Order: sequence, then structure tokens, then C-alpha cells
Amino acid sequence: MTQPTMETFVALCKRRGFVFQSSEIYGGIGGFWDYGPLGIELKNNIKHNWWRSMVQLRDDVVGIETSIIMNPRVWEASGHVATFADPMSDCKDCKRRFRTDDIAINEKGERRCPECGGELTEARMFNLMFKTFVGPLEDDASQVYLRPETAQGMFVNFDNVLTTTRRKLPFGIAQIGRSFRNEITPGNFIFRDREFEMMEMEYFVVPGTDPEWHDRWIEERFNWWLALGVRKANLRIREHTKEQLSHYSTRTADIEYDFPFAGFSEIEGIANRTDFDLKKHSEWAGRTLQYFDEATGQQVVPYVIEPAMGVDRCFLAVLIDSYAEEEVRGEKRVLLRLKPELAPIKVAILPLSRNEKLVPTARKVWDLLRPHFMTQYDDAQSIGRRYRRQDEIGTPYGVTVDFDTLEDDAVTIRDRDSMQQTRVPIANLVSVLLEKLDGA
Ligand code: GAP
Repeated sequence: MTQPTMETFVALCKRRGFVFQSSEIYGGIGGFWDYGPLGIELKNNIKHNWWRSMVQLRDDVVGIETSIIMNPRVWEASGHVATFADPMSDCKDCKRRFRTDDIAINEKGERRCPECGGELTEARMFNLMFKTFVGPLEDDASQVYLRPETAQGMFVNFDNVLTTTRRKLPFGIAQIGRSFRNEITPGNFIFRDREFEMMEMEYFVVPGTDPEWHDRWIEERFNWWLALGVRKANLRIREHTKEQLSHYSTRTADIEYDFPFAGFSEIEGIANRTDFDLKKHSEWAGRTLQYFDEATGQQVVPYVIEPAMGVDRCFLAVLIDSYAEEEVRGEKRVLLRLKPELAPIKVAILPLSRNEKLVPTARKVWDLLRPHFMTQYDDAQSIGRRYRRQDEIGTPYGVTVDFDTLEDDAVTIRDRDSMQQTRVPIANLVSVLLEKLDGA
């Protein structure tokens, strides 16, 4: 398989309008990214896929959307104010700053500056939550945080969801939304950002059944990545060691992807959060967050299994995994073998040339297809170049309008992966494409 270098890949993302540096004309800002016209389509398709599989196709999970800024006591109760921190060291020579645990220990048993080899300061803990103020006064009383995870929105709404939906255990609450972390060293393109989107689900279960549900969710989530089209050989499951566990977790398994620039790295975590969060919020808010178990006639504090992933990392893994280079008639062809349901553009409409007779017909074909599929019309440059452009953005099908079309009312469908061409009457075009795209 072909894995692109980071440079090739970042260049493709920019050239084709997937991802741009945030505020680029001002020199950018580390850890923040913008999604271009194709990027937002892919991102929406990923989110839609997750929401469909986690909420819409299940009878035991409901979705919600909660605010980014919450009462700051939420973050004291959850332990984030006290412990959501990374160790940070500065180089005494070049003055660069690093996350200490990102630096390998050398043969002398010490950490040195990865840039210049200089001596590092003692590690000190740095809280990753961004702070801001609510209202006109910038004092301690008005200080709030931008959420570093969406999960707490689900925990503090546990009672609201339970009473309004009258769910029975086990059930889940899912959410997609922005999170913010003031990462010490953002990097590897959109892998580690300071603003990113998360897709998280809190699955509330009867205490004691949590180990079994944890195993089931690890399997479910791994299969979701496979169904997305990511190759099994590039995925693995890794258990956290005791030292790596978050303050709320007794067991966490990460799904990792083999990134070309960093090797196997986390793309999703599936944690057993126990009853930690509900108990903490009960204590801090003075409200009981419990469930009445009719089977035993007792109140219980549910345990929680949490599959949590970042949309941006998924975007990166999916794009990299779909990237392929092929030699076609002595020329390099770059393509994204994205599953049609993820492809930003499903069908490209390509008149053979900008001929005055072809263009009106091609535009009519475009009008015909637009209500059914995400389409793109392109008549600039040679047809060969346009096919290559569509291959490079992963468009599964191209529809070519040529001079024969004017005679026989038929067009050619070109398949991205096989490059095979099939002649289809315009009258059947929508149904043929619907069948090929299978609801994508
Ligand atoms: N509520 C659990 C939680 O926040 P996490 O392992 O810190 O767990 C979950 O984050 C997922 O969010 C990660 O697997 C990763 O995909 C994504 N993620 C975390 N930090 C990120 C960052 N700085 N930039 C992009 N994605 C990030």
C-alpha cells in the first residue's frame, strides 16, 4: 500500500480544499485549522455516519447537544481543574517548550531538548483547559472554561434525559461537539489540535455488568472503523497501563491507527469511567444522580462505558488510509479510495470539452443529478486532467457528456477505482447511480 509523506498529504489537503491553516493570511495560529469546501463535506459525512450508527440505528442510545461553556463547578467536580494537566519542560538553551512525556529518555537516563540537545527545566504541570470570562468583569468569580471534553454535558444531563425519555438501563447518551485543549505541543497536522470536534457516548449500565459491556463496546467500535473502510492491518487495540489511565478510569482500551508520520497512535479511547462522574456531580451539586432498578427494588449509581473519539483524527486516518498511487500508461495517478458514503463529491459531471453544444446538455444532466447527489460540474482543461482531479478528491463516479450524447441521449459513467466506462441512457442515469452508490 502507498502511504503519503506528511508533506505530500498536507499539500494535497490544501491544494484540493480539504484543510487550510486557520487565519493563514496572518501567519496562522498553532493548533487551529479550517476545513475547506471538500473538507467540510468529508467531516459531515463522518459525523453523519457515527450519529447514524450510534444513535439512529440503535434503540438504546439518545443524542443531545450541550453548551461549550458550563458552570465552572462542573470542572472542579469532574477533577479536570485538579488533574487535567500535562508535564511541561523548557529548554534552557533554545527556550523551546515541550510536553515532557513526549521526549524519549536517553541512554544516560535523562531527557534532553529534542531540538538542540540542551538541558531541560524540571517538569511542571500545566492545566490544558482554556479559560475565559463570562460577563463584563474579568475576575476569579466570572472565570469559566472552554470544555475539554463533551462528556460532562452528558453526565450533568443524566437526570434530565432519564426523566424525559424514561429509559431503562443500559442506555446511552451521545453527543458531537467542539472541545478545546491548550495542548503544549500541538502538531502532526490535524492530529493534535487546540480546537477539535469530539464524538462521545456515555453508556450507563448496571454496576457489575460494566466489564462485559466494555468488551462489547471495544468490539463494536473496532468494527465501526472497519466499516468506514479503514484497513484492518492499520488498526490495533491497545490497553492502557495503570500509569496511563485517566483519573476516572479503571480500564481503557485505545483504538490506534498506524500513521505514516507517528506510527500507531490513538484515534479512539473506550474507557470504563465507573460511577466516578455521577457520584462526583451528586456530591458537588447536592443532587442525587441515581437510577431505580426495578429488578432489585434498589437505587443504583450506574457505571459508565465511554467510547470517545475525535472527528479530526478520524478525518486524518480515513484520508491517509484511502490514499493510493498507481502507474497508468506511464503516468502517476493519485486517488483517494474513499467509500462512496464518505466521499465529499459523489458524482462529477464532465462535458468532453467546453463546446457550445455540449455545455447546455451537460448542465441539464447536472440539473438532473443535483437533487439526488452531492455533485460537482467541471469543464475546465482536458478531460484527462479532470478525471485526475476527481480521482485525487475521491469522487467515485464521473459522468461524461460527449458528442454522441447529442445523438443518442446517453452518457458515460466512469468508475474511479477500475476506470471502467459504461454507457447509460440519460433517462436511466439517476437510478443507475442510485444503485451504484447504494444510498451513499
Ligand atoms: N472523554 C474522554 C476523553 O476526552 P481522550 O482520550 O482525552 O478522552 C478522546 O480523547 C479522543 O479525542 C481521542 O481518542 C482523540 O481522537 C481525540 N482527541 C483528544 N485530544 C485531541 C487533540 N488535542 N486534537 C485532536 N483530537 C484529540
